[in-house]
Amino acid sequence: MAPISLLVVLLMSCSFNHHQLQLVLANNPFDQDFSYMKSVHNINGEEEIGSSNYNNNYYDYIIIGGGTAGCPLAATLSENYSVLVLERGNAPQSHPTVFTLAGFFSDLQKQDDGTTPFQSFTSKDGVGNRRGRVLGGSSMINGGFYSRADDEFFAKSGVEWEMDLVEKAYEWVEESVVSTHPRLDVWQSSMREALLEAGVGPDNGFSLNHKVGTKTSGSLFDQFGTRHGAVQLLNRANLDNLRVVVQATVDRIIFDSTTTEPSSSSKPSAIGVKYSDSKGKSHKAFLRRKGEIILSAGAIGSPQLLLLSGIGPQSQHPNVGKFMADNPMNIINILLPNSSMEPSITKVVGINDNYFIEPVIFQPQLNMTSGSLAEKIPGPLSIGSLWLANSTDVKVTPNVRFNYFDNPIDLSRCVMGMRKIGEMLETEAMNQFKHNGELLFSGPSLPNNNSNNWEWESFCRTTVGTFYHYHGGCVVGKVVDGDFNVMGIKSVRVVDGSTFNISPGTNPQATLMMLGTLGLRCWEKGQENDELAS
Ligand SMILES: Cc1cc2nc3c(=O)[nH]c(=O)nc-3n(C[C@H](O)[C@H](O)[C@H](O)COP(=O)(O)OP(=O)(O)OC[C@H]3O[C@@H](n4cnc5c(N)ncnc54)[C@H](O)[C@@H]3O)c2cc1C
Ligand SMILES: *[C@@H]1O[C@H](CO)[C@@H](O)[C@H](O)[C@H]1NC(C)=O
Ligand SMILES: *[C@@H]1O[C@H](CO)[C@@H](O)[C@H](O)[C@H]1NC(C)=O
Ligand SMILES: *[C@@H]1O[C@H](CO)[C@@H](O)[C@H](O)[C@H]1NC(C)=O
Ligand SMILES: *[C@@H]1O[C@H](CO)[C@@H](O)[C@H](O)[C@H]1NC(C)=O
Ligand SMILES: *[C@@H]1O[C@H](CO)[C@@H](O)[C@H](O)[C@H]1NC(C)=O
Repeated sequence: MAPISLLVVLLMSCSFNHHQLQLVLANNPFDQDFSYMKSVHNINGEEEIGSSNYNNNYYDYIIIGGGTAGCPLAATLSENYSVLVLERGNAPQSHPTVFTLAGFFSDLQKQDDGTTPFQSFTSKDGVGNRRGRVLGGSSMINGGFYSRADDEFFAKSGVEWEMDLVEKAYEWVEESVVSTHPRLDVWQSSMREALLEAGVGPDNGFSLNHKVGTKTSGSLFDQFGTRHGAVQLLNRANLDNLRVVVQATVDRIIFDSTTTEPSSSSKPSAIGVKYSDSKGKSHKAFLRRKGEIILSAGAIGSPQLLLLSGIGPQSQHPNVGKFMADNPMNIINILLPNSSMEPSITKVVGINDNYFIEPVIFQPQLNMTSGSLAEKIPGPLSIGSLWLANSTDVKVTPNVRFNYFDNPIDLSRCVMGMRKIGEMLETEAMNQFKHNGELLFSGPSLPNNNSNNWEWESFCRTTVGTFYHYHGGCVVGKVVDGDFNVMGIKSVRVVDGSTFNISPGTNPQATLMMLGTLGLRCWEKGQENDELAS
């Protein structure tokens, strides 16, 4: 079926209002490929989408979370195995805003009302944050900026990467969803100039690789402003082997009762999962012999599910939920003399060993448009933890504290980056944004006493926000081994941002999609990967 007619069928089968329907059609260019919908089913029976060839409920792999890592993982594994993906969110077509740049900016202004494609949460640090709640995960609600990991990430990750496979996996992602011919608008190109004038060199032109200096990188948004999120990687799955169930919230992993008895000496072995539809009705799915559960529920969802399943401090897994980290974002906003300037998505980044600087223009607030410069620090070194807020209900977001700037190196890096932004403001590239020869800030301005370091540190602490690159909770070497198996239990792996000890590169999604694409290819060394029963 041609993608466009399939889309119309889908729209009619869901309860869209007319306005949304027009939006989808107007904003979905022809190259948005929905073939994957053949394998997508809504657990709330009355909206059953596509046709199911599945009579049984046993799978080689059950992936929890159809997100940024989960979608490419499902695509890869479905090549040779039967795969079930359980995703708590809905198909992206029920959230037309996720497909467009304008939708990204307007969603940032919205509140989470339980139906939005994102879920809001506030860490114990008091910083508002969000995570994806839609098939495609956070890649459907993010800024789309795409840049590969740095060498340090690979060196320090605790994983023995086969770099030729890593390269191939990145390329596979890039040929599927990444736009590599960005057109720079006035803000992006001017800030590129400002970075170079301020000495963030060399000029690395366009590159998807992590390189010290200033570069333009890829984006999930194409030249028409259409997003190509991780969900589209499902188009490259063997759809006959894949079943994706949406609005299916996994409540817990089910373990073999003979191995969970206190007297048992063998490792607990996962046999399936229990999940709920949006009406609260409970369902189960099971593993075939030698099958595996793979948690791809993200850095909040994966440790939460392990804890809810009894895998935590109480069962000799003290590090589940530990080593949580979020790279702080510090930002300044310059009031633009031209209040008609359009929102501007990040396409340019300045890269230094101590900080990354990314330009962006958010949607105007009232009649004021400001151009922003956002700074991220690598790492970070400061860590916190996650713990359950409710010991039975997965819908209640766990508590999480990131302890921003606990480590003094993080703070000094922030200061270095903000001082560099201060130097950017002095460049000629900024002149066009002055009002009567002066730059005006909306929100906090940079400290004006350069020799008072305390003022700069205080600026970093008081203006801290999130870059949404939080990670950890199931870190390699702490909770999972170098093959991503949860240590001390059988048949459960974790493949998502919760396994990272540092945020890869300037922005993580490239590496999360790469990780999913690798599938188990990299990690089966020495392990007998014999035929799964079918
Ligand atoms: C606003 C925002 C802007 C960002 N901008 C960028 C950017 O420009 N570039 C970049 O590289 N990165 C960006 N990021 C970060 C990046 O998007 C995330 O780091 C990445 O998508 C996380 O991938 P993941 O696979 O670990 O988790 P996710 O993609 O979040 O996937 C987890 C999935 O699991 C599902 N799930 C969770 N719990 C359950 C459950 N119990 N049962 C069933 N399903 C469940 C969720 O609904 C979700 O679909 C941004 C993030 C946000 C929020
Ligand atoms: C699928 O199996 C074939 C044949 O054994 C193998 O060459 C290929 O690498 C496998 N694919 C994946 C993704 O494991
Ligand atoms: C202001 O920005 C708009 C939108 O980018 C552009 O069309 C217009 O030419 C700009 N005006 C001036 C005076 O630069
Ligand atoms: C915004 O509108 C208010 C009231 O209409 C006006 O006083 C103010 O000058 C405007 N600001 C800008 C930047 O245009
Ligand atoms: C946990 O969630 C359940 C179900 O939503 C609720 O009944 C219970 O009161 C909650 N417990 C706590 C401690 O909040
Ligand atoms: C700037 O800070 C330094 C160091 O704290 C201080 O000695 C100096 O007086 C300050 N200058 C101004 C103008 O406040």
